[in-house]
Amino acid sequence: MVVQIDTTTICGTDLHILKGDVPSVEQGRILGHEAVGTVVAVGSAVRNLAVDDRVIVPAITSCGRCAACKRAMPSHCASTGGIGWIFGHLVDGTQAEYTRVPFAETSVHKVPEGVTDEQVLFLTDILPTGYEVGVRNGRVKPGDVVVVVGAGPVGLAAIQTAGLAGAATVVAVDLADSRLEHARRFGADEVINSADPDAEQRIAALTDGGLGADVAIEAVGIPQTFDLCTRVVRPGGVVANIGVHGAPTTLHLEDLWIKNVTITTGLVDGTTVPMLMKLVQSGKVAGELFGTHEFGLGEMLSAYDTFANAGANNALKVVIRR
Ligand SMILES: NC(=O)c1ccc[n+]([C@@H]2O[C@H](COP(=O)([O-])OP(=O)(O)OC[C@H]3O[C@@H](n4cnc5c(N)ncnc54)[C@H](O)[C@@H]3O)[C@@H](O)[C@H]2O)c1
Ligand SMILES: [Zn+2]
Ligand SMILES: [Zn+2]
Repeated sequence: MVVQIDTTTICGTDLHILKGDVPSVEQGRILGHEAVGTVVAVGSAVRNLAVDDRVIVPAITSCGRCAACKRAMPSHCASTGGIGWIFGHLVDGTQAEYTRVPFAETSVHKVPEGVTDEQVLFLTDILPTGYEVGVRNGRVKPGDVVVVVGAGPVGLAAIQTAGLAGAATVVAVDLADSRLEHARRFGADEVINSADPDAEQRIAALTDGGLGADVAIEAVGIPQTFDLCTRVVRPGGVVANIGVHGAPTTLHLEDLWIKNVTITTGLVDGTTVPMLMKLVQSGKVAGELFGTHEFGLGEMLSAYDTFANAGANNALKVVIRR
């Protein structure tokens, strides 16, 4: 299938690729793995999609047939080489006028009428990441105190969807006050700057008798923040790691073995996109909150510049339109 790209965006992963951190990306590859577009051509294997359909093209491709996809883990789809993330990685991506979409039938999702591109654009990557790898793997339950360390787009997605699972109190932790302000917009009940020397005591004070958080979600990807999560979680709680770690982390089993703590990791699968799409449609998840800056496709370098300097520009995600 070929999709004309109407709206796309840039991911932190794209910045890693440009720095050379992802050697599997060949020189000259078109980047981008998040888009909303219009179908302009379909192949013979496509049955339920047609020209002019409006679809989201998600980060993860699913063949729907291999053992991984049948286990609802298309992040490890065997038909795409054991890694479901192929756009802007192993094949040309969505930061373009048109994108060829393999396994379209089982990968893209139709956009319901009456919903804007900005509302659904972030269902392609960050919203399911925050929900699946943070909230769902963290087994957030009604009444829980949930601490989210890192209030970048991914942490904010976890903050925004923790309420779906019934979290009573969502605590955002970040080093940047500007990110903590965004966290409030996304529904954080409490915000704590981790540079504050009392940060850990303040987190503890928000939990039952100082017992600790029911769930601590790591959304940065460095040893300090993973460690912080293991310290603030209560006995019997869950640490859900979302961050991509570039360096080894010491797992303090000498403290943790007696805490009954569960630690989860995960790569987004996108299997919850249809569910999240319904919540966007009904106004229960405000997907459009992530888009802070807008550009045209012809202004790609400015878009990258703004996103790469997100702190200075108070940017979350950029919306790039054709
Ligand atoms: N597991 C997955 O499938 C998956 C998918 C997408 C992204 N990720 C990862 O999720 C992580 C977050 O992504 P993002 O796009 O939101 O990144 P980001 O860089 O925009 O946000 C990270 C946030 O962490 C904060 N931070 C940095 N150091 C901190 C510290 N010591 N204490 C508290 N906060 C601190 C920063 O101020 C920033 O707000 C990254 O590691 C990314 O690679 C994982
Ligand atoms: Zn991404
Ligand atoms: Zn597959």
